Amino acid sequence: MSVNTRIRTVLGLAAVGALALGLAACSTAAPEEGAGGEGGTGELTTVGFVAVGPEGAWREANEQNIQDTFTEDAGYELKYAPATNLDQKSQIDAFTSFVDEGVDVILLSATEASGWEDSLKRAQEAEIPVILLDRGIEPDDDSLYVTRIAPDNVEVAKEVGAWAAATFPDGGNYVVLEGPAGVGVVNERNKGFDEGLGDTKLTKLDAQTANWSAEEGKSVFETMLKANNNNIQLVFAQNDEMGLGAAQAAEEAGLVVGKDVKIATIDGTKNAMQALADGQLSYVHEYNPLFGETALEVVEKALAGEEVDSYIVVPSEEFDSAEAAKAVLADRKY
Ligand code: AHR
Repeated sequence: MSVNTRIRTVLGLAAVGALALGLAACSTAAPEEGAGGEGGTGELTTVGFVAVGPEGAWREANEQNIQDTFTEDAGYELKYAPATNLDQKSQIDAFTSFVDEGVDVILLSATEASGWEDSLKRAQEAEIPVILLDRGIEPDDDSLYVTRIAPDNVEVAKEVGAWAAATFPDGGNYVVLEGPAGVGVVNERNKGFDEGLGDTKLTKLDAQTANWSAEEGKSVFETMLKANNNNIQLVFAQNDEMGLGAAQAAEEAGLVVGKDVKIATIDGTKNAMQALADGQLSYVHEYNPLFGETALEVVEKALAGEEVDSYIVVPSEEFDSAEAAKAVLADRKY
């Protein structure tokens, strides 16, 4: 299992303290109270978390981990603001409220990649550092935020593509189940997968969104199978739920996953790892959501006015067999 190497600084907690001075996306004037928690005044550091909210197992694990990390015991008051039905306007409204309220720092997991410039500029004018969690922004202007903390979607998907090319040396037909249009990680994953495929003989028959959902993954793949007389040998599902849905559709079409069709997914949630162990999926690439401690380290550095790299990559591993999944299932934290 290869660990997802990084283009930028791979993050381990030990590395955070020694982060190379990268492009300084932000060096903020340290507020009166000390950085990171109970400052000199004994007040809590206020963190506005503009979150996605209910979206699936990955999101639940990620947002719970953030809430479990930024606790009062750690010196923080976390104000959790999940989007209303994944609606960006509700996120922008929450972001604006946090700026008006004068929180010490904002964490942002964006439902949409574009449309954030005005909000980020307002936070910058108010000298409130913004840290992107998971999702990037488009166009990417890293002068508008301190850093982005996430696994590297391009590298993760590149490894999925490399596995696909190696698994189908003589080619075959494949389809892609994408996340929602407008979400930055969708474009990054498509880019990485195509790079990983290289000069493969695999043929792309179709790509459609199934909105991160198992139900839609099943219905979209059912339609794809019917439209192509079941002649599809590979599914690249950009998250676990869509891949699990595709596995249901394959089974109902009389296909055997692993024999007639292979299904590769990204996230590495418990259900997908169990499905990989049981042969209902063929490959799972982790997209590690548990980076709360990392975010806290970065918040402390930002509030202390220190510089941090503009993109902090969370290491993630690939799992290409039932045996690989079984080896880690017992200790799975999400
Ligand atoms: O941005 C990360 C993606 O969002 C995950 O892969 C998916 O499961 C989540 O909904």
